[in-house]
Amino acid sequence: MKQKIVYYCTECGNETPKWAGKCPACGAWNTLDEQLVKPSAKSKVLQTKPISQSVLISDISSAEEIRFKTGMNELNRVLGGGAVRGSIVLVGGSPGVGKSTLLLQLCGNLADSEKILYITGEESPAQLKMRAGRLGIDKGEILVHAGTEISDIFSAISAAKPSVVVVDSIQTTYDSEISATPGSITQVRECAMAIMRLAKEEGFTAFIVGHINKSGNIAGPKVLEHMVDCVLYFEGDQSLGYRILRAAKNRFGSTNEIGVFEMADKGLKEVLNPSEMLLSGRPTDSPGTIVTCIMEGSRPILAEIQALVAKTSFASARRNSNGIDFNRAMLLIAVLEKLVGLKMSECDSYINVVGGLRIDETSADLATLLALVSSYYDKEISSGLAAVGEVGLSGEVRQVAQINQRLAEIARMGFSGCIVPFHSKGEITAPKDLKIIKVKNIKEAIREALTNG
Ligand code: TYD
Ligand code: MG
Repeated sequence: MKQKIVYYCTECGNETPKWAGKCPACGAWNTLDEQLVKPSAKSKVLQTKPISQSVLISDISSAEEIRFKTGMNELNRVLGGGAVRGSIVLVGGSPGVGKSTLLLQLCGNLADSEKILYITGEESPAQLKMRAGRLGIDKGEILVHAGTEISDIFSAISAAKPSVVVVDSIQTTYDSEISATPGSITQVRECAMAIMRLAKEEGFTAFIVGHINKSGNIAGPKVLEHMVDCVLYFEGDQSLGYRILRAAKNRFGSTNEIGVFEMADKGLKEVLNPSEMLLSGRPTDSPGTIVTCIMEGSRPILAEIQALVAKTSFASARRNSNGIDFNRAMLLIAVLEKLVGLKMSECDSYINVVGGLRIDETSADLATLLALVSSYYDKEISSGLAAVGEVGLSGEVRQVAQINQRLAEIARMGFSGCIVPFHSKGEITAPKDLKIIKVKNIKEAIREALTNG
């Protein structure tokens, strides 16, 4: 039979019958990889039993989702209250962020109650042992299997009959029946699919590690993300001490929650009070900084927003924004130029959210705008003042959701005042000792912020 050739994009997983210099799906250059497909020769591990008969939805016995705690509150929170038995969790992150550390610590926590098999394709068992020693994991039964070939891994799983399996990582796992190289999109997809099928059949919970490439995608992201039950991303700069675990997809819970960890010398430590950590070392008497409160799921977190506005020495002003959507930042700068009359087009503007936090809600608008103004006038805002509110195109300050929860967190962290939108859904219950300053538009907000400073 004639062999068919298809081309896969190594960035996005798109498949095309014809080679091109640029991937038609994601637009990346020179990423199409040639792969041979043998239509009839299916991978051995994929040949499972014939599909059972269809049943009426009313006849399906509703098995309760059974959860078990992972021993780490931050991880439980992101998973939606613990890991679900029989589910597949993909843990993505750039190399060195701490995925193996997280999962090994998870194994350490579960070792007494679960039967664990740790499949390592990246490190030798001796290296794993060294790491476990460093993390203080010496008790309990954790089976380690060093292997990368999928049928070899399957035999290890059948022999061990584990309840939790860690695959570190999916990029090193390969199926020898498929000609593609390990780590290629075909291998990643086929192996993940095979592990997933086995997990559903045998009922074990699988944690699969997936490295992400420079553009922030798990190699073959599209194919993996829709297959698994839960996709967690582990983020954070290696130079920063802390890491954020974020759910990008969760069939058993919300995707809004984040977990915060700190990388210490003995592994990852949970950070129960992220606001405190993010605000530590904050300058108290410099212009261009103010604190806001964002909601990460059900959890309020304080974030410091900094801005630097300085006369430009270039033909056109430079602008950069870190942690806040660039377009959103441009919009705020345009509002300042047009409605407040600041000559922003003659200034370079830089915005930064301290600690590498990424904000994607509009409630930080007001704080961003105030930080810009404060830097423009070179006048500091009182360090006891916070601001929460969305800014509209006509300069109005609009309401934000869950205002009372935010104010409670701001008060808890010892702030003395907070600028809030005049109109709020529901009544604002001001926490004790927190002065609430209601403003209708940005001019009022700027006046309040700079005179209170
Ligand atoms: P690792 O879990 O190997 O990352 P990944 O599996 O995502 O590639 O984490 C490696 C980094 O973590 C490395 O830079 C060293 C650091 N680290 C610590 O700081 N303390 C520790 O106790 C451990 C185990 C790792
Ligand atoms: Mg690793």
